[in-house]
Amino acid sequence: MLDTALLKEFQQPFLLSTDMIKHIAVQFRKAMYAGLCGKTSPLKMLPSFLAAPTGQEKGAYMALDFGGTNIRALLVELYGNGHYAVIRQRHTPLKTSSYDYTADSVSAEELFDFIASEIGQIAPAAALSLGHTFSFPSYQTNINNAKLITWTKELKTTGVENANITQLLSEALIRRGLAHIRPAAVINDTAGTLLTAAYSNPAADIGSICGTGHNTAYLEPWYHSTPMIINMESGNFDKLPLTIFDAKLDTNSEKPGQQLLEKSVSGRYLGELLRLIINAMIKNGLLPAIEAKRLNIPDAVTTKDLSLLMADSVIDLTTVLTLYERTSLQQIAALLQKRSAQLTAATFYGILCHIDPKLERRHHIAIDGSLYEKMPGYAQTIQATLTDLCGKSMTSLSTGLIKNGSGIGAAIAAAMAKK
Ligand code: GLC
Repeated sequence: MLDTALLKEFQQPFLLSTDMIKHIAVQFRKAMYAGLCGKTSPLKMLPSFLAAPTGQEKGAYMALDFGGTNIRALLVELYGNGHYAVIRQRHTPLKTSSYDYTADSVSAEELFDFIASEIGQIAPAAALSLGHTFSFPSYQTNINNAKLITWTKELKTTGVENANITQLLSEALIRRGLAHIRPAAVINDTAGTLLTAAYSNPAADIGSICGTGHNTAYLEPWYHSTPMIINMESGNFDKLPLTIFDAKLDTNSEKPGQQLLEKSVSGRYLGELLRLIINAMIKNGLLPAIEAKRLNIPDAVTTKDLSLLMADSVIDLTTVLTLYERTSLQQIAALLQKRSAQLTAATFYGILCHIDPKLERRHHIAIDGSLYEKMPGYAQTIQATLTDLCGKSMTSLSTGLIKNGSGIGAAIAAAMAKK
């Protein structure tokens, strides 16, 4: 018989009450304020040098979406009035069984030469501006100049941190005979998501990624001479009620102490949290010994397993479990998912309280990423948590999926740079 008291002990630390969520939102808002004032803050609050688009940006642009272990090159046509089309695109992994451009044994030049040759596969002969979505914390001095502060999402390629990303890309394009493809803008994927949503919806002022990584950008109304999209790098927020499992995951990670919100929220880490919990449950006699080698391999349990568990699909992790044990595992998976969506909603509420404390204007939160798009119940939990936090004002707030924001957004940014 399962020890329900002990099971509750495992579950309890993952439960967030409304008061706790409100407290996190308050802390988040304070961290935004500190970051905007240049004080020490877990939020980098990086200016993008871009405001919202008008929706009338037009023309053909190349786009590069580089945000993790896959890259995507696109040829995009913007038609104005919020309409666009992807004319050509090409997805390529940066890591396969035969090569790994994300490893520290690879140089920045090798990585960007590879990226440039991928762009070359779909680039037309005509001269075109290119927008680059580079989804890592980067310090910008203008719309086309970004310096990588530090790799996140476990990338390690040598010589990119502190380097000028646009210069690395431009030089690689020239080396590959693609001098006619000229980088014109560099943005974060959260900014790309926001730009794409705002291209057709003027109420869009928050853009977020809930996928392999987690981060949010918003349109800052007060702190710059004109409204400006700020990449918060909110994945690094750290005023959180974390559990012993979060602490263990953090200690074993590439960069302990960094990206604590991302480590408790994003798809890159939810499976690993689940693996750590399952092992602790086995150790405490809450689950029988499960014959799955991957339980001993870091990162071998993935967010997909979390979804499969919750959908009650049979996987190697559940074959020896009784119905009751399987249900207890599903409850843990559901809690991890719920906490992720609640923490994300808390940060959205913190932003809303900063930009419009009385929630008097319309706001749209545009969200991209596999968790938001594919994980059953995820979008609904964000919505329900926001409704709980905003009360009646929720009528002026909407949330919704935006697909391809990092590719299209790069093209929009390139068009805005032209002006
Ligand atoms: C990581 C990156 C951030 C990006 C996010 C989503 O948190 O640091 O720049 O926006 O992942 O891809």
